[in-house]
Amino acid sequence: METATETRTPGPEVGAETVPIFIMGKRYEVPATLTIMKALEHAGYQYIRGCGCRGGVCGACATVFRREGDYKIYTGLACQTVVEPGMTLTQIPFYPANRAVYDYETAEPTAETIYALYPELFRCVACNACSKVCPMDVEVLDVISAVKRGDLVAAKELSFDCIQCGLCASRCMGEMAQYHIAQLARRLVGGKITPRAAHLEAMCSSIDAGAFADPITELKSMDPEALKKAYVEREMEPHMADENWKPASNVGLAAEA
Ligand code: SF4
Ligand code: SF4
Ligand code: FES
Repeated sequence: METATETRTPGPEVGAETVPIFIMGKRYEVPATLTIMKALEHAGYQYIRGCGCRGGVCGACATVFRREGDYKIYTGLACQTVVEPGMTLTQIPFYPANRAVYDYETAEPTAETIYALYPELFRCVACNACSKVCPMDVEVLDVISAVKRGDLVAAKELSFDCIQCGLCASRCMGEMAQYHIAQLARRLVGGKITPRAAHLEAMCSSIDAGAFADPITELKSMDPEALKKAYVEREMEPHMADENWKPASNVGLAAEA
């Protein structure tokens, strides 16, 4: 089992430039090139929560900070934001936002479903604090406005980049969880409004009919080394392939056969 020390970011090279930062009010010297996430680990904190992908997509590492000499509160993702000298920061890995409980199977794909589950969305005062705080540049006010006027498709499109970090809810004058409201809109549109893809249904049927049974049986019978070799040597679509590109082998294209 790894120890906390082994999972932390290694120390800086001798002579590396460091900057002072303040984590929950306490001063630390950290290498100037680190992200907030790595700086926290360098300072001795161990992530139990508030850290997931480390790549800017899971939304677990919402961070609030101030810059030295600046009254403003800034926000960002700890895994994506590089430390600055004099920065004062803390993380809010979980924000106690309201998330409605519902039965998706019976939920009607209408705005009224959202209104019933999240009536607080009508408390929006259009302050736009949510859009300003979003690290993914989601126009959160526009998302909420789209839901209010019943345009769930627009709400889905506008909120597509949301990573559920919760920062918008932390600043909301209307005390709502915009990202849970937007997620429900996306679920209703994605599962109940967007037309079914015929080619996907054909592929699922061919899988059910055993189209891939032989290749899967073959893969499962391979020893680990042969499996690694097959993986490394697999045919991949070129990065700049045009729409007519097809692999040399038609194994895996059963639905087209
Ligand atoms: S919309 Fe809200 S929860 Fe989603 S990424 Fe932006 S601030 Fe985070
Ligand atoms: S922060 Fe809340 S009240 Fe302000 S615009 Fe966004 S949803 Fe509306
Ligand atoms: S750890 Fe996933 S977004 Fe930062």
